[in-house]
Amino acid sequence: MFIPSTRYPLSLRVIHWLTVIAVVAAAILTGAEEHEDDGGSVVSGISAMQWHYAAGLAVLLLLIPRIVLRIRARVPPIIPTPDRFTALTARLVHVTLYAFLLAVPLLGWLQLGYAGEPLTLPWLGWQLPALAQPNPQANELAEELHEVLGNVLYGPIALHVVAALWHHAVRRDNTLKRML
Ligand code: HEM
Ligand code: HEM
Repeated sequence: MFIPSTRYPLSLRVIHWLTVIAVVAAAILTGAEEHEDDGGSVVSGISAMQWHYAAGLAVLLLLIPRIVLRIRARVPPIIPTPDRFTALTARLVHVTLYAFLLAVPLLGWLQLGYAGEPLTLPWLGWQLPALAQPNPQANELAEELHEVLGNVLYGPIALHVVAALWHHAVRRDNTLKRML
């Protein structure tokens, strides 16, 4: 007899939690720039910013297999079934999260191209190709957008985490267990 899984496929669970680590790392490492501005060691400031790029690129890299796997996956049902409003809100927040996970790192990568700065990975020293030609005006816009969206991203993430905990502790359904 076929017994449907009660959890997300292992691959999607692993990617979900690796993405969480990468986003948190990218967020923490944005401080590297201020460290540099504060008159701290420019060299360590720059290399810490490279870790910000690496963490951000990991978010982007994980998103590609994630979307393919998600389209093909059978999502385990939430038991008891949430009402339509809750289900619709969850879907909206998930789509918003996916959009941010795509847009924020891409804007960061684009911005480096517009600024004419190389995208160098830490430790390995690999240089990735620029996504755009230098352009001061576009640079300003991409820089602003990357920073604003990077900060706005905390909103849907907070909503998402509170919802996951609410499902678990208040509604006492299996939403969170499906992702563990
Ligand atoms: C989910 C991934 C990412 C998040 C959440 C994020 C977030 C941020 C935030 C909030 C800032 C502003 C820091 C500040 O000025 O206080 C920033 C700066 C920056 N990020 Fe990212 N970022 C991500 C990925 C990337 C990637 C992949 C790249 C490049 C490949 C990148 C390149 C940059 C650059 C160059 C700056 C400095 C911009 C400036 O000159 O003000 N970021 N990032
Ligand atoms: C950087 C932080 C996070 C991001 C970007 C993120 C992103 C996402 C995304 C995009 C989905 C949708 C999966 C799908 O396609 O069905 C999801 C699902 C889920 N996440 Fe997160 N997540 C984060 C943190 C967390 C944390 C901290 C928790 C637990 C407290 C959590 C619990 C869950 C659960 C339970 C689901 C399944 C929801 C459902 O099937 O309705 N997430 N996450």
